[in-house]
Amino acid sequence: MISRETIEEILMRTDIQSLVGQYVTLKRAGSNLRGLCPFHSEKSPSFTVYPADNSFYCFGCGVGGDQISFAMRMEHLDYPDAIEFLAKRAGITIVETDNKRYSNEPKYDKARFYQMNVDAARFFNNYLFSSDPEARAALSYFTEKRQLTIATIKHFGLGFAPNSFDTFTRHMLAKGYTRDELVAAYLCRKHDEKGHVYDAFRNRVMFPVIDVAGNVIAFGGRVMDDSKPKYLNSSDTPVFKKSRNLFALNFAKQTCQDEIVLCEGYMDVIAMHAAGITNSVATLGTAITSEQARVLSRYTKRVIISYDADEAGRKAAQRALGLLEEVGLEVSVLSVPGAKDPDEYIKTFGVEKFKEVISGAKSKFDYKLDGVLGRYDISLPQDRIDALGEVEKMISQVYSAAERDVYIREVAAKFSVDFSSIRSDVDRIREKNAQKYKRDESKRVKESTVGYFDTVNPDYIKAPAVAKNEENVLGLLLLYPDHRKRVFTEGLLDADCFVTGLNKRVFEFLASAFASGDDHLVSINEVFTQDEVGRIMKMKTARLELSNDADSLMVSISSLKRSVENHSSGQTKTMDELARIIQRKQQENK
Ligand code: GTP
Ligand code: MN
Repeated sequence: MISRETIEEILMRTDIQSLVGQYVTLKRAGSNLRGLCPFHSEKSPSFTVYPADNSFYCFGCGVGGDQISFAMRMEHLDYPDAIEFLAKRAGITIVETDNKRYSNEPKYDKARFYQMNVDAARFFNNYLFSSDPEARAALSYFTEKRQLTIATIKHFGLGFAPNSFDTFTRHMLAKGYTRDELVAAYLCRKHDEKGHVYDAFRNRVMFPVIDVAGNVIAFGGRVMDDSKPKYLNSSDTPVFKKSRNLFALNFAKQTCQDEIVLCEGYMDVIAMHAAGITNSVATLGTAITSEQARVLSRYTKRVIISYDADEAGRKAAQRALGLLEEVGLEVSVLSVPGAKDPDEYIKTFGVEKFKEVISGAKSKFDYKLDGVLGRYDISLPQDRIDALGEVEKMISQVYSAAERDVYIREVAAKFSVDFSSIRSDVDRIREKNAQKYKRDESKRVKESTVGYFDTVNPDYIKAPAVAKNEENVLGLLLLYPDHRKRVFTEGLLDADCFVTGLNKRVFEFLASAFASGDDHLVSINEVFTQDEVGRIMKMKTARLELSNDADSLMVSISSLKRSVENHSSGQTKTMDELARIIQRKQQENK
C-alpha cells in the first residue's frame, strides 16, 4: 500500500493545469480553463479545468475527477500505476507501507530497481556491439539469421549476455548494487550459502521488456542454437508482474486505438514492428491472462489474435478468444497459411501479403464454426445433427440479416444441407429468443422502473426528487471541508438520510475520510470507479454554480430530509393500498 502522505504529496506537487496542459490546449474562461475534451470528440470546448481545487469535468461526456483520475484515463493506467506515473513526473519516491506481497521480505526501492534494470539493459546492449567474438556471433544471429536491421536492434534495445559465469555480476556489483538486489531482480542467481551469486542470463541474446511508463522491468533471453530452454524469462520481481505486462505495449500504445495484433513470441512482434505494423504486442512466454486482457481493453477496441499455426497455437487462441471477449473486446483470429508463425510468414511472403491476411482476419463466426467442427465428426449422422444445432444457435445471434445469410450459405455447403431449411431453423430460434426477451423485459420493467437510464446510479430513477436533494447536499460537502466538519462533528446527517445507492456510498466515504483525517479525499479514485468519480465531479460543479451563503447548507439538509420523508411515506401509502386491495380480493372470493 502506498501511504496517504505520499499520495497527498503527489497531489500537492501536481498542478492540474500543467498536467492537463500537456495533452490539451487550454484557454482561460473566468477563473477556470476550457479546452476540447480529450476523451470524446467535440468541436466546441466543454472540457473544464478548475485550478482552484485541482479538478476537471467535461460537460459533454461526464468524465471528471482529480489529477489521478486524469492520469488514469489519459494514460490508460489503473490506480496504483497512475500514482506511480504522477510520482515519477513530480520526482517523488514512492514509500510503500505494508506491501502484502513482500511483507516478509526486505523493502525494495522501486526507483532503484528500475535503474538497475536500465543499467543491465545498457550492459547487454553494449556487449552485443563489443569486439568479443561471441558478441560478433550474437550480432550476426540477429542481423543474418533473424534478418533484423541495426536500427531495429537499437529500437528494441536488444542485447547479448556473455557466455561467462559472472562478467555481468561483477559489472553490476561495481555499480554498487547488492547481491540481494540482483537476485531479487532476477538478474543473478544464488551460487552458495555464503551469498555468492552468478549471472542468470548466460550466452543468450537479450530482449528487454519495457512497461508503458518507459521503465525496463524484465528480460527474455534466447539461445542461439537448439539447446533448451529456448527462452529464459524473468520471474516476477518487485517491479515486474508477468501476468499483467505485454511485450512492446510501450510502442504499440501510440497506434493501437482501433485494433491491436496479439502474438505469442517476441520475434513475431519485432518482425511486425520492423515492417511497420507497430500496433502489435506479445504475452511474456505464458498464455494470456485475464489481467492482460483487461489491460488491452484499456488501450484498444479490437484484438486480432495472431498465434503460431500449430495445434498449441490454435488451442491457445481459443482460450484467448474467450478471455478477451469477457472484457468486452471485439476479437478476430488470424491464420497464417504456409508458415509456422507471423515472423516466418512476413519473411517468406512479405509484409504486404501479411497485411492482406490481417484485413481479411477470420471473423469471430468462422473461428467459432471451426471450434464446433473440431468437436464433432460430421460424417456421423448424430454428430452432424448436434453440430448443426449448435451452429444454428450461433447464427441466430447475429444481428444483421444479410450477414446471417452469408453464414447460412457457408454452413449449408459445409454440411450439405438445404439453405432454406437452415434458414427456417434459424428464424424459429430467433422468434423463440425474441419472445423470451420480451417476457424478461416486461418482468424487468415491472420489478422496478430502474435501470438502464442511469447506469452510474441506477437508483436515481426510483427516487429522483430525493436523489436531486442528495446530490445538492453532497455537492456542498465535497466542495467545502468546513461543511464536512460541521456535519460530521454535529451529527447533522447520517447514512439513513440517503436513499440511492451511489449517493449513500459517497456520504459514507466522506464520513470515513473525515474520521481518518483525510481532508483532500485522496482515496476517491481507489474507492469509486471512474464513471462514479465523473458523477461525483458533476455534483461538485453543479453546486459550484449556486451560491454558498451561511444558510445554504442547513437549507439543503432540511429539504433532503423532507424529501426522504415524503418518499418513504409514499411507499407506505402504496403498501397500505396494496393491503386493502388484497383484502377486497379475498372478500370477493368468499
Ligand atoms: P523464435 O523461435 O525465435 O521465432 O521464437 P518466438 O519468439 O517466435 O517464440 P516461440 O513461438 O517459440 O514461443 C513464443 C514465446 O513463448 C516466446 O517468445 C517466449 O516468450 C516463450 N517461450 C518459448 N520457449 C520458451 C521456453 O523454453 N521457456 C519459457 N519460459 N518460455 C518460452
Ligand atoms: Mn516463433
